[in-house]
Amino acid sequence: MTPHLPDVIREPDLPERVVIHEVGPRDGLQNESGVVPTEAKVEFVRRLARAGLGTIEVTSFVHPKWVPQLADAAQVFAAVRADPEVTASGRRLPVLVPNERGLDRALELGAEQIAVFGSATETFAARNLNRTVEASLAMFRPVVARATDAGVRTRGYLSMCWGDPWEGRVPLDRVVRVGKALLDMGCAQLSLGDTIGVATPGHVTALLTAFVEAGVPIETLAVHFHDSYGQALANTLAALRLGVTTVDASAGGLGGCPYAESATGNLATEDLVWMLHGLGIETGVHLGELVATSEWMADLLGRPSPSRAVQALAGRHVDAHGLVLPPKADGPNTEGPKADRPDTDRPNTD
Ligand code: HMG
Ligand code: MG
Repeated sequence: MTPHLPDVIREPDLPERVVIHEVGPRDGLQNESGVVPTEAKVEFVRRLARAGLGTIEVTSFVHPKWVPQLADAAQVFAAVRADPEVTASGRRLPVLVPNERGLDRALELGAEQIAVFGSATETFAARNLNRTVEASLAMFRPVVARATDAGVRTRGYLSMCWGDPWEGRVPLDRVVRVGKALLDMGCAQLSLGDTIGVATPGHVTALLTAFVEAGVPIETLAVHFHDSYGQALANTLAALRLGVTTVDASAGGLGGCPYAESATGNLATEDLVWMLHGLGIETGVHLGELVATSEWMADLLGRPSPSRAVQALAGRHVDAHGLVLPPKADGPNTEGPKADRPDTDRPNTD
């Protein structure tokens, strides 16, 4: 058998399978200052689909004045919906919808899954939605009700769950209260957002436990970590240990919210896949194809991907399982002195 890294060691009590909710085309691109051509966005979704991602958040039906990068939402969504390679095997293609106007636009194009996006804090609700927390919940209620009637599944996002750049600490009970309101109005899943990436694993455990204690089944919760302080993977592992099985991530670690000060890239999908595959957790993702996609996108954006896994794997032989190790050299060393060669496969020891 071809030797690979990562070596697969299962940890008991972790799920056998994790659903990766890929947000690269939406959360990843929405913060890009240079406009990405429509055809490149469509090609991005196509490549992500080819890499095996089963849920790809395509775009956002918000006001184009608020997020100019996604002004071509209708063109992008129509093109990916018409592509049999993307729609194959029951792939889910959710879109963001803030209000009934957004819902109309999404339904017109045949959206089968939408997401509304609330805030646990007043400052972010005002900046992101131009409303109070309560008024934004009131805006979402008819959206979720009409979507449900139309057979469309709704995800609820909740931002600033672990800290807010203007308000600081966000009490757990406030997050639980707003999150429950989103579930109670009919959202099938609640994605808890660390919009500015300040969460640490103990805080993740505390918030998820508070939701469970308030009667929310852990299966209805997803996690959405931004990686500003390098905590996203550790936070994800804490969530998996409590039974979460849906994790949001963005190919190449693209991302950020234009209305949240200090929001940086999302957890990189490649970093997540490397960890999950090492833990023997199935994702359906072909790591090599995904890395190639992020290299392609990095070229297009004109800057390297911040993902550590993409940086480590770029230009190397990566298949579905991970890094393919070169065959052991039996004969004389023809590659020159070892010190001259990169030795990236060496274990990371002091
Ligand atoms: P508003 O200005 O209060 O809207 O914005 P309004 O209802 O007063 O309407 C004003 C005008 O906008 C009207 O047009 C509407 O028709 C139009 P006019 O009559 O003046 O010509 N309009 C729309 N046009 C197109 N599509 C629409 C739409 N709605 C109204 N859907 C609104 C309120 C919610 C629309 C605005 O605040 C908005 O679009 N906000 C979106 C901000 C956003 O997209 N942020 C990023 C996503 S959230 C995020 O990234 C966090 C997340 O990743 C999780 C995490 O990390 O925490 C999800
Ligand atoms: Mg986000």
